Amino acid sequence: MGHCYRIRVATGAWLFSGSHNCVRLWLVGERGEAELELQLRPVRGEKEEFVLDSPEDLGTLQFVKLRKQHSLVDDAWFCDRITVQCPGTSAETAFPCYRWVQGKGVLSLPEGTARLAGDNGLDVFQKHREKELKERQQIYCFVPTSSWATWKEGIPLTIAANCLDDLHPNVRFQEEKRLDFEWALKAGALEMVLKRVYTLLSRWNRLEDFDLIFWGQKSALTEKIHQCWQEDDFFGYQFLNGTNPMLLRRSTSLPSRLVLPSGTEELQAQLEKELQNGSLFEADFILLDGIPANVIKGEKQYLAAPLVMLKMEPNGKLLPMVIQIQPPNPSFPTPTLFLPSDPPLAWLLAKSWVRNSDFQLHQLQYHLLNTHLVAEVIAVATMRCLPGLHPVFKLLVPHIRYTLEINTRARTQLISDGGLFDQAANTGGGGHVQLLHRAMAQLTYCSLCPPDDLADRGLLGIPSALYAHDALQLWEIIARYVEGIVHLFYQRDDIVRGDPELQAWCREITEVGLCQAQNRGFPISLQSRAQLCHFLTMCVFTCTAQHGAINQGQLDWYAWVPNAPCTMRMPPPTTKEDVTLATVMGSLPDIRQSCLQMTITWHLGRRQPDMVPLGHHKEEYFSDPQAKAVLSQFQTDLENLENEITARNEQLDLPYEYLKPSRIENSVTI
Ligand SMILES: [Fe+2]
Repeated sequence: MGHCYRIRVATGAWLFSGSHNCVRLWLVGERGEAELELQLRPVRGEKEEFVLDSPEDLGTLQFVKLRKQHSLVDDAWFCDRITVQCPGTSAETAFPCYRWVQGKGVLSLPEGTARLAGDNGLDVFQKHREKELKERQQIYCFVPTSSWATWKEGIPLTIAANCLDDLHPNVRFQEEKRLDFEWALKAGALEMVLKRVYTLLSRWNRLEDFDLIFWGQKSALTEKIHQCWQEDDFFGYQFLNGTNPMLLRRSTSLPSRLVLPSGTEELQAQLEKELQNGSLFEADFILLDGIPANVIKGEKQYLAAPLVMLKMEPNGKLLPMVIQIQPPNPSFPTPTLFLPSDPPLAWLLAKSWVRNSDFQLHQLQYHLLNTHLVAEVIAVATMRCLPGLHPVFKLLVPHIRYTLEINTRARTQLISDGGLFDQAANTGGGGHVQLLHRAMAQLTYCSLCPPDDLADRGLLGIPSALYAHDALQLWEIIARYVEGIVHLFYQRDDIVRGDPELQAWCREITEVGLCQAQNRGFPISLQSRAQLCHFLTMCVFTCTAQHGAINQGQLDWYAWVPNAPCTMRMPPPTTKEDVTLATVMGSLPDIRQSCLQMTITWHLGRRQPDMVPLGHHKEEYFSDPQAKAVLSQFQTDLENLENEITARNEQLDLPYEYLKPSRIENSVTI
């Protein structure tokens, strides 16, 4: 009597996932190997079933082998996974793939149970993982990012790819995502042209003139910002819960760069009083000091390095008390202090300088460097060091989807020579690279972990600090999820220490990708389960929640350009008496720069059409039922947080939505 194997082959649902080519399949078991007589032509989105009647019992299944055949056209096939029901059982053995099958080579898919190296003494799996890593290390290589600017060393390494075609198909956007991305760029370009035509003969000398371009794609919150942007509490609010909640700190002393000359005793007394009450806060943009400003179309742009001191009212509102636009220097030993009581235009211009500086640090330090480039290092190290059978690979791979492509696009279009940063931002033209270089010194392990970062910034326990609240909750939930998975595979600390693949992965991130980041507190090895969990929580949090918080707000807060000017076209004011409307309008971005800002921030901040919410990937990398239960608990925890945030937001004038789990993407994809 034969042995009946029931085989199900699932093909991806994306455009072009199916193939006109034929695929041959073999089952490989402990006791033997059998080829399927039937040949498969995979159909997009289908799960096709075959039966193999084998004269012999193959024993426990170890691999499914695939070979795609073609004569003229190599029609790539995206295989989701293959499952096999063995004779006399109802259980399925799964062989996850989630990759493109291309060319004529044989692809071996191991049985999906997660295993550590040398875990079960089955030599075939050990050989498989070594071969897989060898291949992946040739495909995924780190290079310094020297190609996109004058910089030579000290910025995180990136994937070796000069253009999108250099990327392996497995890390490219699926067709739907690519089409949408490129369509959105074209739609944005068209909108810009229309706005330019519409404003061709218009004046650009009053703040209301920004209304001429304030149409097209925008969010509901943007409308409110359009109305309230000049109010001081709106200005203060953004440091807590805007698109860059990363810069604010509770003051522990008056900053040394704050120069309080004679005649400002009253202000000094107020600052001291707030300091003693613990309600004095600061946002210091000193990182921008001395960065060369851009020249756009022959017109010199300007940069400042402001410091703003704020106080927190008992109702949780944060109000600016004083702005010092520049640090003291030999030519201006006592820089002008701008106050809420100043002539309105002078105060508005001072706030605009702060908002412009915030735009730069937000985009370059907290968005590009601390999320996109860190996520890329995690992605490349994961591909290079962890085989598909490794539980940490299975845990992380849904959180690195599309990251290599979006970053390659950023390097070739956004921050490249002549790219959008050069065209519209005052840090463009090389200053942005110097800024990234400086920001690296602040890229510590603690700065990526909210419990440490928020404590360091004195932001714990503030009811109106909504980013801080939600980030901590998400950190806890992710930590529980990670711990659930880690404890399934690492029963003791010595198993962590003795996992050579894991240790190589950690070292690759810290020493190679992040450029000797052990000096900034990153681990170079993992000594315990707790240390591994903390590191993995940081990885998942950075690739998901943190990017969500930093990325999405662009759409709301940057569409009304005066609220967050991408560049400044006049030098920072040194006196307040002669600030006129002409000074304000001459400083803020011109029409072309403003249109570009609106278009790009819409493009990058809008909800992605194929977005996968945190924890809701469809790919089943883990076959273990316990691992599936941990994922399902993660989803429940996220849902509870979702409900909590929704209820809280209903009570608020300005709901904080960016860390709602349903709005957080599962990886950095935009
Ligand atoms: Fe982003």
